[in-house]
Amino acid sequence: MITDKAIDQLLASYDDKAALSEAFTIPAPWYVDARIAELEQQSVFSKTWQVLGRVDQVEKPGQFLTATVAGEPLVAVRGNDGMLRAFYNVCRHHAAAVVTEPCGQASILHCPYHGWNYGLDGSLKGMPEFDGVKNFERKDNGLVPVRVDTWEMLVFVNLDPHSSSLQEFLGGLVKRAAPLDLTNLHYFATQTYNIHCNWKVFVDNYLDGGYHVPHLHKGLNSVLDYKQYTIENEDRYCLQSSPMVSGDEDAATSTTRRGDRAWYFWQYPNFMFNCYEGYMDTNLVIPVDVDHCRVIFDFYFGDTSEAARSYNEQSVAVGNRVQDEDLGICEAVQRGLKSRAYQAGRLSVRREAGEQLFHRLLAVDFRAGIGKTAAAAD
Ligand code: FES
Ligand SMILES: [Fe+2]
Repeated sequence: MITDKAIDQLLASYDDKAALSEAFTIPAPWYVDARIAELEQQSVFSKTWQVLGRVDQVEKPGQFLTATVAGEPLVAVRGNDGMLRAFYNVCRHHAAAVVTEPCGQASILHCPYHGWNYGLDGSLKGMPEFDGVKNFERKDNGLVPVRVDTWEMLVFVNLDPHSSSLQEFLGGLVKRAAPLDLTNLHYFATQTYNIHCNWKVFVDNYLDGGYHVPHLHKGLNSVLDYKQYTIENEDRYCLQSSPMVSGDEDAATSTTRRGDRAWYFWQYPNFMFNCYEGYMDTNLVIPVDVDHCRVIFDFYFGDTSEAARSYNEQSVAVGNRVQDEDLGICEAVQRGLKSRAYQAGRLSVRREAGEQLFHRLLAVDFRAGIGKTAAAAD
């Protein structure tokens, strides 16, 4: 879809005040217009707490992990004093990435380009062949810090130095997820999906209140009491939950998806975690460009002993199959969103309240982002 509408007109074409029974989805151009993707990086991904990695990756002094948030290369590192810090992973000399591995352990952060060294606290320790340089203060040339905090087994960062705390951002989610005792679960494996769709298409698919489950996920559907599926919206999170039944459709699903209830949490904008008894997978949805996203699944289990390995592998395989079912539909939706036949869609009152929450939160952040851009230009 080629649109020459001004961006403020594009934003005005969504009514976030409409009741669910009257509401439309966000309009198609929001999923396909590169200007919206750019606005998102500034007003959503640079302003919200974003998952960077796992606490178990940075437990010991010198352990680090790197990732990109809103296009910014970042590194989190545990200091010798036990404190977890995060920095832009950008050398103060000529901007090379200082840490080049996804995770690891080091006693010093050593830039591979010209050999500048930084301490685990980000301070600049040494620069080869830099004698005679005037008006240069080593203490002013440490790595630039980024806010970092943890919740349960996750490391979060926020590029906005003025944003609220992680606890405030997560809001009621913290209390709602507490009974699940997530810290009893241990990391087992990661699976990454590269999908040819806008990141919001993947999130929408997640937040449709199980609407697609009977049609797309026959195996999963057989263990859920679909009619009793509940949807709770609060703050910046949506909890979808369903009682479980013993399914006979698919043996692998019924053996690996157990317990009284399934719990599907989404935290605005791009993070989900899904729990069954002794099981969790987390999903981090990362926009690559307007047409592509990458979704990182981390699988956790109560028992990660060698004896449980084949069961856990079977469980991951069930997760993979569900994702493959979602992936094809997400890519079809992205193609449809570009069609001249489609502008926006309506929402099921019974099922799609979570999607509306997502769209409303986006609209608020976009308007705030545009307001700032306009104010800066005045
Ligand atoms: S860019 Fe890092 S030492 Fe030159
Ligand atoms: Fe699905």
